[in-house]
This record gives sequence, C-alpha cells and structure tokens, in this order.
Amino acid sequence: MQKINIAIDGYSSCGKSTLAKALAKELNYVFIDTGAMYRAVTLFAMRSDFFANNELDTQSLINSLDEVEVTFEFNQTSQKSHVLLNGEDVEDQIRSMEVSNKVSSIASVPEVRKKLVALQQAMGEDKGVVMDGRDIGTVVFPNAELKLFMTASPEVRVERRLKELQVKNPDITREEVKENIESRDYQDTHRATDPLRQADDALVFDNSDLTPDQQLQKAMQLVQERM
Ligand code: DC
Repeated sequence: MQKINIAIDGYSSCGKSTLAKALAKELNYVFIDTGAMYRAVTLFAMRSDFFANNELDTQSLINSLDEVEVTFEFNQTSQKSHVLLNGEDVEDQIRSMEVSNKVSSIASVPEVRKKLVALQQAMGEDKGVVMDGRDIGTVVFPNAELKLFMTASPEVRVERRLKELQVKNPDITREEVKENIESRDYQDTHRATDPLRQADDALVFDNSDLTPDQQLQKAMQLVQERM
C-alpha cells in the first residue's frame, strides 16, 4: 500500500507523541519526535555554557551549530526510538525541567530551525513517517497527506504532564508544571519564525475526553480515508 506522511501539531502536552507513536506502530511507520531534536540542541547549549543568567548567547550557539549532530536510534531495552546528541543517548536528560524551561528560546532561533527542518524533511522523503511538533503541517511537510492539529483542555494537559514528570521528580508541583506549559504556549505561538499555528488543511483533534486507545481508533479512521 502507498505510504503517506502524517503531520501532528499542537500545543505541548496535548498527547501528540502518544498518538504519533501509536499510529506509527499500527502502520509500521517511522515516528519522529521533533521536540526531542529542539531539546537536544538545548542540552548542547546548556553544556556549552551558552546560557549566562538564563539569557541565551545566540551568536555563540549559531557559530557552533555545525558541531551539533542530532540523530535517532532505536533502543532495544525501552523498545522506542531515542534521540542522540553527537552520538550520545540523551533521551532522559532532554526531559528535565531545566531543558523544558529553556527549549523555547532555542526553538526561536531561525538558524536552529533551518538546520532541524532540513533534517526532518530528509527523514520524510520516502514517506511512511509520523512526525509530531509545532510546524510540521505548515513548514516541514506542507504537502503531508494527513495533518492533525491536537488540542486538549488546559486542566487535562497539566494533569497529564504532572503525572509524566512525577515519575522521575516526585517533588514537582502542579503550579510549576502549569507555569511551564503556559509560558511555552505563549512563546511557541508568538515567536517570529514558524510559530505554532494550525495549517489551513489540518483537522482539529480534541482528545480531552478520549483514552489513548479511542484516539488511536479515531485517527486510524482518518488515515484510512486518506490512503
Ligand atoms: O514537543 P516538546 O514539548 O518536546 O517540544 C519542545 C519545544 O520545542 C516546544 O516548546 C517547542 C519546540 N518545538 C518547535 O518549536 N518546533 C517543533 N517542530 C517541535 C518542538
């Protein structure tokens, strides 16, 4: 059967990657978490001390971008794809609150976006990719056969993220999570380069009241209509 590309965009913690992963598994497609790529560059910038007093030294980052290699590798133990920064598995480290708090400033640097978008486009050349992010349907794959724009109520999003983060950080508070989500929403939609917005031909997909299984069934119906 002919393969398609599926673009999944939306605010943070809307369940994009849960759905994208499940769809990729069901279809035997490649799942690509583009947020992980921006997070890996953020970790690189942190390690390089490009954040002095929380302020990003954009020029130093741009000058070093050629030294940053972001790739994915399937991990046999976790049975999922992990992001590698210059060959090192950083899948766990990129999920920290510190990275979450700094990633929006990295994602707003046009040179960073240019580099990562080119990598993402190359990954989708042969189709059969489910990619989640903020600009997939608008910039990375404007011709994707299926585009979903995911939403969920703010309460549901905070609750989901809190549960996810509490596994590794039991002390994290609901307020901290809420603040991070709100500040990233604002930055993701207000940055000058490729801000988060719904593509004209994207379908809005609200999963506030859907279980992961229900959202997969619903999305699979849409996939079948497009194939
Ligand atoms: O999906 P996530 O929360 O892991 O993404 C981390 C950050 O990266 C998010 O705040 C916005 C940015 N991002 C982006 O600008 N473009 C993408 N395609 C994916 C993520």
